[in-house]
Amino acid sequence: MAEKARIGVLISGRGSNMAALLYASRAPGCPFEIALVAANDPEAAGLRIAAAEGVPTFALSHKGLKRAEYDTILDQELRQAGAHYVALAGHMRILSAEFVEKWAGRMVNIHPSLLPKYKGLDTHQRALEAGDRVAGCSVHLVTPELDDGPVLGQTEVAILEGDTPETLAARVLIAEHQLYPRVLADLVTRETCPEGLLDKVRELALALPAAEEKLSHGMPSFTVSGGKMFCYFTRDHHGDGITAILVKTSGAEEQTMLIEAEPELYYRPAYLGPSGWIGFRIDRGNVDWDHVAEWLLKSWRQAAPRKLADVI
Ligand code: GRF
Repeated sequence: MAEKARIGVLISGRGSNMAALLYASRAPGCPFEIALVAANDPEAAGLRIAAAEGVPTFALSHKGLKRAEYDTILDQELRQAGAHYVALAGHMRILSAEFVEKWAGRMVNIHPSLLPKYKGLDTHQRALEAGDRVAGCSVHLVTPELDDGPVLGQTEVAILEGDTPETLAARVLIAEHQLYPRVLADLVTRETCPEGLLDKVRELALALPAAEEKLSHGMPSFTVSGGKMFCYFTRDHHGDGITAILVKTSGAEEQTMLIEAEPELYYRPAYLGPSGWIGFRIDRGNVDWDHVAEWLLKSWRQAAPRKLADVI
């Protein structure tokens, strides 16, 4: 199994959603672990829960700091803790667009309404005043606009007669605690499941000039204009359990050197190994996609006719 995805959780108060993520992460098979719990309020109750559970914490009041300064410190802390995703859980501070940009596609938030309804505060009261029959919660990707990013999952919660904002909030919170770990698990496994990985490889490979996809021995493969191959996508070949791309090195020397230098990343593939192809594993989480793109281009250059290769 791939390494667990490391999550930084940002809170401001009670931290019950953080606790839900934390305890879910300790169930067998959960694909994520909590790397850091950070709060912009050193008194946040959730910090004590995290500390007692042996999770690293970071607390820094934002008071007196410029937004950009605060966010830079926070970003450094998250990276030092090895966080690869950020989960906002009752985090009551707006994050700068720069920070959001740095974590694009890797930062999620939980909001106590059925988005796009009732962005912002007082969601339960607004749902009750509107006479809604159902309320609920949403987990969404964070974009610079408040509570606006693509929704990844929602749970509806029926509104009962006589509900007050408090009674409704308490029931929605139960739903939140169920929804958040599940959606987060889906998001992080998308990065390690072969389907998600193929989508990403395909996107990068087909962005190269004249690139075309075809099936070769059951493997999705990429050619230049239907001719020479520059990349194979291999998954569980003869039950080896590996998901990787095969790309062309300059020859046996480079191939051996790379495998010796990084044996957990590179390997010599069966059949194609002798002709200079190398396996580059993408199933270990935290894939460096820029590195993958470089390999695809390098391999493409070897397959492309001179005229075309000279263009880029
Ligand atoms: C939750 O209702 C969450 O949806 C909202 O803030 C509240 C945080 O509660 N964003 P907790 O700190 O997770 O207990």
